[in-house]
Amino acid sequence: MATEKLWGGRFATDTDAFVEAFTASEHVDRRLARYDIIGSQAHARMLAVRGVISEAECNAILDGLDAILTEISEDRFEWKPELEDVHMNIEARLTELVGEPGKKLHTARSRNDQVATDLRLFTRDAIDQISDDLTAVQQVLLEVADREAESIMPGMTHMQTAQPITCGHHLMAWYAMLNRDWQRLSECRYRVNISPLGSAALAGTGFPIDREMSAETMGFDSVSLNSLDGVSDRDFVVEFCSATALMNVHLSRIAEELVFWSSQSFGYVDLGDAFCTGSSIMPQKKNPDVAELIRGKSSRAVGNLVSMLVLMKGQPLAYNRDNQEDKEPLFDSFDNAHACLQVLAGMVSNMKFNHEKMRAAAAIGHSTATDLADYLVHRGLAFRDAHEVVGGAVRRAESKGVELHMLSLSELQSISNLIADDVYGVLTLEGSVNSRDHVGGTAPSQVRQAINRARAEIASR
Ligand code: ARG
Repeated sequence: MATEKLWGGRFATDTDAFVEAFTASEHVDRRLARYDIIGSQAHARMLAVRGVISEAECNAILDGLDAILTEISEDRFEWKPELEDVHMNIEARLTELVGEPGKKLHTARSRNDQVATDLRLFTRDAIDQISDDLTAVQQVLLEVADREAESIMPGMTHMQTAQPITCGHHLMAWYAMLNRDWQRLSECRYRVNISPLGSAALAGTGFPIDREMSAETMGFDSVSLNSLDGVSDRDFVVEFCSATALMNVHLSRIAEELVFWSSQSFGYVDLGDAFCTGSSIMPQKKNPDVAELIRGKSSRAVGNLVSMLVLMKGQPLAYNRDNQEDKEPLFDSFDNAHACLQVLAGMVSNMKFNHEKMRAAAAIGHSTATDLADYLVHRGLAFRDAHEVVGGAVRRAESKGVELHMLSLSELQSISNLIADDVYGVLTLEGSVNSRDHVGGTAPSQVRQAINRARAEIASR
């Protein structure tokens, strides 16, 4: 056999070659190498302080691990699939480099608490990166929303023109969705940043370890309080995949709007040449492929969440090898979220709105009919009756092939004698949006207040 297994002692024959390949994960989990080394160094320091290993042995281990980190980052490290995973590849190399002290590193530790520790360190960094990416997109949204605070566009329900809104208000709705995503990630971080190291294989260890010390060295807030749970819990991965799946679903909804806003039929926005691609056959095409891919890539995020949930279902305590399958969904959810947010930030800051088209679209479909009903209510009619009356006015306008605001005063007055010539003030697009002047409303002044609140919140992060 080319390489001795670190656990080979009780085995009389070699591992089947296919089994070796089937159980190996180093090609995936080598991505945890940096965290594995941070965890091992914290563990070694603690063992030395507790007198389990000597100061000299500890220093040899720390230096050896530093050297391995350099080898890995310079792509000089020789990964061996027969050593299964990142943990045993690094430990075997350490012993090669420093001899006896390397063999002592695994005292009072198991790969079970080791991998749980590595994964929590990875997930903590992943949360911090995605949170920063979200903040970057939110900042771009605030800039664009500020520019578009007064631009009129149609607000839709059922994909039908409903009421006029301001474009800034629409963009701030996207902001609000992403803000909850940011909050979910920061709440998830509390449950991620807990050290399982010291749980050992499942029952803890008889050595006089100091779990708080190694936890603090690694920047964890606290230690896990049950060793069985410490090695088997992957809730934090589920939570990360869940928070990012929901975030990617939000990005998908945003992307969908960009797709149809940029189509010729709508023409509200130009996404810019840098964020579109062409067709191999139709020379005139400029396709919103980036937005479509953001929409499409949400499927991966949802898939990763489902994989993690199914992975955990049915696992008895404590550690089972099933857990080795947690890494690909976690890594992919991170990479996918990171890439989508980065490209979206660029695309949003590049958008050019076509104000004429948005305004023209808002002006059709009798979009201020609710404003007319509200006008009648102000003049004493009950809302349900006002709704009925305006319905009649819309029918009249439709039969003449015009918009509600195009009906003459005498035509409107023949529908209700409560209508006076000030009615045209409420039938205009500006009159409509300006009247919705309360917290959460679409009036430009409210959009500006929402932007100011958001800026203050982002500055406090
Ligand atoms: N490669 C394993 C994983 O990712 C490490 C832990 C293996 N532990 C064990 N007892 N086989 O989960």
